[in-house]
Amino acid sequence: MLDMPTIREDLKTVYDLAPNPALAASMQAEYARMARVVSPADWAIHAPYVAAINALKKERNATILAHNYMTPEIFHGIADVVGDSLQLAIEATRTEADVIVQCGVHFMAETSKILNPSKIVLMPDMEAGCSLADSITAKGVAQMRAKYPSAPVVSYVNTTAEVKAASDICCTSSNAVQIIRALDAETIIMTPDQYLAQNVAAQVPEKRIVWWEGSCIVHEQYTAQDIRDFRDWNPDTRIIAHPECPPEVVAEADYSGSTSGILDYVSRERPARAMLVTECSMASNISDAHPEVEFIGPCNMCPFMKKITLEKVLWSLHTMTTQIEVAPEVADKAQLAVQRMIDLSAVSA
Ligand code: 13P
Ligand code: SF4
Repeated sequence: MLDMPTIREDLKTVYDLAPNPALAASMQAEYARMARVVSPADWAIHAPYVAAINALKKERNATILAHNYMTPEIFHGIADVVGDSLQLAIEATRTEADVIVQCGVHFMAETSKILNPSKIVLMPDMEAGCSLADSITAKGVAQMRAKYPSAPVVSYVNTTAEVKAASDICCTSSNAVQIIRALDAETIIMTPDQYLAQNVAAQVPEKRIVWWEGSCIVHEQYTAQDIRDFRDWNPDTRIIAHPECPPEVVAEADYSGSTSGILDYVSRERPARAMLVTECSMASNISDAHPEVEFIGPCNMCPFMKKITLEKVLWSLHTMTTQIEVAPEVADKAQLAVQRMIDLSAVSA
């Protein structure tokens, strides 16, 4: 566990990190992107960190890849690339930076390292895990293979490098249907998200999909009754659910897609009111670009994503820790599964 009081003291000896309204006022371009969701007082607290991180990024020739669930000050203040898991993986293959700082969870940093073995990949907090990645090991994949011997294994990118290495191909929530349709097999094993698998199965009825029983602690909390009640109380609201939600929740929604799919849907449809059935930062991060949309309704926080803070990103870049390492024999096999996914998504897009 990171010793935050000590880290805080150490950082203060090098950087001026006191709240700074004058500095904040001079950084209006950055602030404008988050002004609807970050108060001026909070911006005065964040601005010194944002300024220090952006300067250090240049010094280290680093790039920051940030997931759509990062807090607005990370998403809008310091990220070079933002996106869903697929976009971040693709961008990791394109970057010319020497250092990648992953603002997301551990499996995302591992994926970046697998795709860029020669680069330094930094994870600001190694405890930023994922309930899906924790739900299965390579042994679990082997058990599924023993049960369904001729079925290929499609593993969600929300898995460890070992699980990816034991799989035939990866998928994300934005390309899972594409990947399953493209595979020449009647029965397909999907790991580890039972709900993503069931949601895909509903869209690809010609295939038999069998699944591992993992779930996302954020999305599994929603129920179909929640959605029906919400619709009764807010009849004109567009309900948009991530496919990690249970299928009966997705069935009640107007649209289901990956985090980038959600953003594309909102940009295309511009509903007057929307409820995003997903992690809380999603609505915060897109609300400044869409002032015409009122985002309402409950949301669930991912405790793992929220482990990443400006303070930890600054510490990570300052000390160049923690560097992600993946054993070469695992990385080589995992890279095949991830690259197959990227290639297949590009072909059938
Ligand atoms: P996306 O690929 O849709 O961004 O999903 C990643 C994730 O962890 C959602 O919980
Ligand atoms: Fe994992 Fe769910 Fe958090 Fe995404 S939201 S990182 S799937 S626990």
